[in-house]
Amino acid sequence: MPASFLLGLCAGLAFARAHARRDAAKRRNDENDENDRDGDGDGDGDGERRPVVVYMDGCFDTMHYGHANALRQARACGDKLLVGVVNDEEILRCKGPPVCDARERADAVRACKWVDGVIEDVPYEVTDAFTDELFAKYGVDFVVHGDDPCLAPDGSDAYAYPKRVGKYREIKRTEGVSTTDIVGRLLRLGARAMGEEVEEEEKEATFCTTSSRVAQFLGNNAPPAEDARVVYVHGAFDVFNTGHVEILREAQKLGDFVLVGVHADADVRARRGAAHPVLNEKERALGVLACRYADEVVIGAPAKITNDLLTTFNVSVVVAEDEDPYEIAGEDANAVAAARGLYRRVPRAREWSALSVAARVMENRAAFEARNARKMKSEAAYYAQKTHVKES
Ligand code: CTP
Repeated sequence: MPASFLLGLCAGLAFARAHARRDAAKRRNDENDENDRDGDGDGDGDGERRPVVVYMDGCFDTMHYGHANALRQARACGDKLLVGVVNDEEILRCKGPPVCDARERADAVRACKWVDGVIEDVPYEVTDAFTDELFAKYGVDFVVHGDDPCLAPDGSDAYAYPKRVGKYREIKRTEGVSTTDIVGRLLRLGARAMGEEVEEEEKEATFCTTSSRVAQFLGNNAPPAEDARVVYVHGAFDVFNTGHVEILREAQKLGDFVLVGVHADADVRARRGAAHPVLNEKERALGVLACRYADEVVIGAPAKITNDLLTTFNVSVVVAEDEDPYEIAGEDANAVAAARGLYRRVPRAREWSALSVAARVMENRAAFEARNARKMKSEAAYYAQKTHVKES
């Protein structure tokens, strides 16, 4: 049999299968409409509206406030947000090595306050079969992605199928931050730590923190009740990660309201050196605010606990992000809290710091540099053609 005939036959079969799938999906929708006697869209007549389920997938490597803002907007497209986290092998195959492993990435997504559920180990390629599984098994109503072009390895639109069946929603990508950008900052931090001369990168797009962004990230967080036991956790919270999630989760167990002091850039620099912090205090505060265990942040908090700070915020317990005593000019930064019997040292469950993440990147430096060079080209192309997309 000639090869061209075989190819034609395969293409024909694939086409017929895709049609059958779409017909089945349409039949299911029509049946749903017929049975939906109370018109609430849930396919029954019990008067209760079925929650609109939204799905977003991604790598979420070195989870940052851009990812959190994507999840926030996705959640606003429905009532329930499911997030698919791509596995390590797929990221390695399609993008290059991830900085954080699948468990760390899934834990970071799970800790985000707009996420209702995580599906681990999803494929990088959003195949029609996988999309059908999302619709049928998980009851997904819409697939959501940022407005940056997302292409399958063959160059086609990765979300063509949900777009064709009217189940795709687009949200605005957060400008000025990406995993590529953070990996670049970590590469520079790692190189400086090794004593190399490093030039600052010139960037076209920089993240601008607006008051409405901070308000969006605060979301529905209520202020503390009059008699609330306020737990004050303070530290740098640089390159927000699962170690931070764990300390905030532990802090929540010690009281009713978790107030997080995100140290001022100058204080972090004074303690850790001129190459720190990797993210500025506004970026670090957004990372913390997106976490479900934080109720409020002090942006640019003083590193040294004072009686005035404890009184102003009615603090009952102080927890520090660092294990080692934090000394400022030879004095323990938590001395005032300790003297008042308010200080608790929460042991760190994981060894995580901006430097340890930078060390991971430096261990695989050539691969990350190559990946970043590639990604920076596509990011530059994106910024060159970008048009305004309204946020949800
Ligand atoms: N996203 C976003 N804003 C950013 C970065 C990511 O809105 N600054 C969105 C993406 O559009 C996608 C989701 O977050 O819908 C998950 O992104 P991810 O798969 O982690 O990859 P990238 O889009 O490549 O993000 P990054 O460059 O940060 O790796």
